[in-house]
Amino acid sequence: MSKQTEQVRRTTVPQIAARKGGEPIVSLTSYHAHTAAIVDRHADFILVGDSLGMVMHGMENTTGVPLDLMIMHGKAVVRGTQKALIVVDMPFGTYEESPNVAFRNAAKIMKETGCGAVKLEGGTRMAETIRFLTERGVPVMAHTGLTPQSSHVMGGFKTQGRDEETWGAHIADARAVAEAGAFAVVLEGMVEPLAAKITDQIAIPTIGIGASPDCDGQILVLEDMLGLNPWTPKFVKVYGQLGPMIEEAVATYAKEVRTRAFPGEDQVYR
Ligand code: KIV
Repeated sequence: MSKQTEQVRRTTVPQIAARKGGEPIVSLTSYHAHTAAIVDRHADFILVGDSLGMVMHGMENTTGVPLDLMIMHGKAVVRGTQKALIVVDMPFGTYEESPNVAFRNAAKIMKETGCGAVKLEGGTRMAETIRFLTERGVPVMAHTGLTPQSSHVMGGFKTQGRDEETWGAHIADARAVAEAGAFAVVLEGMVEPLAAKITDQIAIPTIGIGASPDCDGQILVLEDMLGLNPWTPKFVKVYGQLGPMIEEAVATYAKEVRTRAFPGEDQVYR
């Protein structure tokens, strides 16, 4: 029996693309094998987002995230999962220079992690690169609207499309990445009616984050929705309170150790 027939088949890029206008696509970020294994039972795709720089490594923004870090976390997530499509973010500085540079780094990510697709930020300006990559076997998820890697240019993490006069440019960005061959596009931090309009007007699935419930799917940063980050963006619904749970468990452990109430080897209780 071949390895392929023994295993659960992973969700493929064409299966995600085919969900346009259909059953909403469920996705979350994950950066490590054990949380990815849990998410894998529920999500259609898992993003190893460069948000890991802020969430896992305490960086102020995502611009400092190196390629090797993405590859290291990408490998862990691929190892921990069987079912979901794994998408790995291309970090800042690894794809903007030219389509050739982008291909070299995307191929490295795919070969070393075993992921099924990469994600990169930018609309019209990245269309040529998206076409170059997809024509050479690299599936690309695009990311428009609030693009955190450009936060220095944008003047921070600001909701896009508040001024209706800017809508045309946002719609053109989404159209450009779809026409260039992206199989889906993340719409981050944009006013709800604009995200709904884009979803209506382009042929590939839109994945919203702080955008619109009318998108073809949604994504959240796992640690945000689990209440593990001291600060979460306004739009995030917190589904669990793991931060306080961890605090309480650690405080109880510390107290037991300090008061010599820590159980002995003969008292292990499970
Ligand atoms: O890096 C990330 O986690 C992302 C999501 C916010 C879409 O790009």
